Amino acid sequence: MKILVTGGTGYIGSHTVVQLIQQGYEVVILDNLFNSKIEVLDKIQKITRTKPIFYKVDLLDYEGVSQIFEKHKIEGVIHFAGLKAVGESVQIPLTYYNNNITGTLNLLRIMQEYGCKTLIFSSSATVYGMNNKSPLVETMPKDSTSPYGATKNMIEDILEDVYVADNNWRIVLLRYFNPIGAHESTLIGENPNGIPNNLLPYVALVAKKKLEYLNIFGDDYDTIDGTGVRDYIHVVDLSNGHIKALDYAVKNKGIETINLGTGTGTSVLQIVEAFEKASGRKIEYKMMPRRAGDVATCYAEASKAKKLLNWEATKNIDDMCRDSWNFIKNIE
Ligand code: WQD
Repeated sequence: MKILVTGGTGYIGSHTVVQLIQQGYEVVILDNLFNSKIEVLDKIQKITRTKPIFYKVDLLDYEGVSQIFEKHKIEGVIHFAGLKAVGESVQIPLTYYNNNITGTLNLLRIMQEYGCKTLIFSSSATVYGMNNKSPLVETMPKDSTSPYGATKNMIEDILEDVYVADNNWRIVLLRYFNPIGAHESTLIGENPNGIPNNLLPYVALVAKKKLEYLNIFGDDYDTIDGTGVRDYIHVVDLSNGHIKALDYAVKNKGIETINLGTGTGTSVLQIVEAFEKASGRKIEYKMMPRRAGDVATCYAEASKAKKLLNWEATKNIDDMCRDSWNFIKNIE
């Protein structure tokens, strides 16, 4: 079965491509390399002994995307490609709406034109907004706390409407929590271009002495130690969840929304402690005021993925920090 992976040279995309190839799928990657590096293809080849077909194409290039479907019988799509920096999205909302929404609309229209109606969409726990109480359940009301979150929210709604109009579609919306970690080969991991957005890349910069200390945003939340609590999930567990979702979608018409999380919350200070253990390095930090838009606690109610996909996270925080460090310590 030939699968198109948009954003396939990215952090979660590349780990999912590895799993797809190892499960016997044929993979075509579409990526504009905005937040990833072409060298990832060689790393994927080293891990799987297969170099995926790659097109440096932007989803805003309607003709360029169509050509891929013209050339390859694409039987399913896993759609990761999109801008994903929450803070940045507040500064440049039009870029986020154009890139994420128009790009997805182009993809969906071309899929429809070529009769490809199997889609796994990379959504996010951010769609739960600020007012839902963890553990977060798929049926809870959605809310948008940033233009980035609004694009994920809107694309979920667009896909619901696509299914209502044509129930031959097979769609799974996966709501990720906080992906961290790296492949055991240490060849692929989280290696964003430019300034990091998330906690782990900053912790890693401090461990590598490229940053003097970590800013911890808030120590007065109503949590175990006052710092923010999140549901960190190993990127390999997360990518496995995509394979399970694809297996499910191939067998089931319909549209399902599913959390991919561990169901366990971990605080920033607990992450710092685990990373110090994994790296043997001291992580200096400074307590700073809360970051706008942050919730105190966010973690998944993860039973639907187990029931529907027979999937659950298997790796713990120590595995995540060990694998993160083993990847990060080798890169520039
Ligand atoms: C985690 C915790 C921060 C950086 C975001 C998106 C979400 C998803 C995952 C895409 C929080 C604290 C962070 C730092 C800190 N991305 N922190 N110092 O905000 O939970 O989720 O990434 O889908 O949509 O919203 O992740 O890694 O930014 O923060 O103290 O330098 O670490 O306050 O408690 P977040 P994060």
